[in-house]
Amino acid sequence: MGRIFSGMQPTSQLHLGNYLGALRNWVALQDSHECIFCAVDLHAITVPQDPVALRRNTREITAAYIAAGIDPERCVLFAQSGVTGHSELSWILSCHTPLGWLNRMTQFKEKAGKHRENAGLGLYAYPVLMAADILLYKATHVPVGEDQKQHLELSRDIAGAFNRAYSVECFPLPEPLILGEATRVMSLRDGTKKMSKSDSSDYSRINLTDDADTIALKVRKAKTDPEPLPETLEALETRPEADNLVTIYAALAEEGRAEILARFAGRQFSEFKNQLVDLAVARLAPMTDRMNRLMADPGEIDRILRRGAERAGEIASRHMAEVHDLVGLLRP
Ligand code: TYM
Repeated sequence: MGRIFSGMQPTSQLHLGNYLGALRNWVALQDSHECIFCAVDLHAITVPQDPVALRRNTREITAAYIAAGIDPERCVLFAQSGVTGHSELSWILSCHTPLGWLNRMTQFKEKAGKHRENAGLGLYAYPVLMAADILLYKATHVPVGEDQKQHLELSRDIAGAFNRAYSVECFPLPEPLILGEATRVMSLRDGTKKMSKSDSSDYSRINLTDDADTIALKVRKAKTDPEPLPETLEALETRPEADNLVTIYAALAEEGRAEILARFAGRQFSEFKNQLVDLAVARLAPMTDRMNRLMADPGEIDRILRRGAERAGEIASRHMAEVHDLVGLLRP
């Protein structure tokens, strides 16, 4: 049994991609593993944030974790900024990370866009902080969506570089866990783009806070093509929007995509979408209700986060003492 670590940025509401690609898998893993889950607020500030909104989003993402089924008693659940070891280890690891490795990160290139010279150092160093998150707890497995694969490979490289520098096996090389049917949920407006919090169109994603009418509207407006649903998975390969909706359906129904096609082959998308709306509302509405109830008591959320930070902090300070010894820093 290994140790699981994962986190999400509290930048705005979570969407269906976050849920199907990551959060739902976290819930399943807490039965078999020691789990540590985090709201990565220090990652969020790599791009400008409104302080009031950031605090609210950190509480909201915590409510979403719990509403989805994360048990704060069984798991360690906290906000990244509540444990100082994340920033400290990030600095130490950055001293073991060649610039060339960071220059290969596609997410930095996408986020910095054409104005690379103006991008913040924090945005560039983002993946080192992510490696610190994982290695601070010596996590062995990291459940994420497909888009985090490259960052996870870098975390493994950084762990290896640190271990080699001091001839030790201090950090395990963390394995990504990319699980389920929907490892990369695409935008509802463009099947070639990832569903993302930063897309300017709210119609591109289903948020976990959307009510039933909003979900229905977004699914009905989702881009499709004029053909009916095909019989085979191969036929979906050239139809990204159709593929995405079938994938979402399969993931929500906890069935395979082939089974969904077997049921809907030859039917029109209008009919399929109606069933998808019913399924999405049935799956998401209880979670949204729970989240809203939790958000009515922010004091309780803060208490859960403080308790989680204490528990995380105990593990982190043990490991930081070891890192201090290896590197030649005096113990804190
Ligand atoms: P973030 O906040 O962008 O996304 C949170 C999780 O949701 C997954 N995800 C998706 N999965 C499927 N389809 C999508 N369209 C989709 N969009 C997002 C992401 O893969 C992720 O698992 N860097 C991380 C946060 C992080 C982290 C960590 C993760 C910081 N430190 C340590 C793991 C371990 C991120 O930006 O996630």
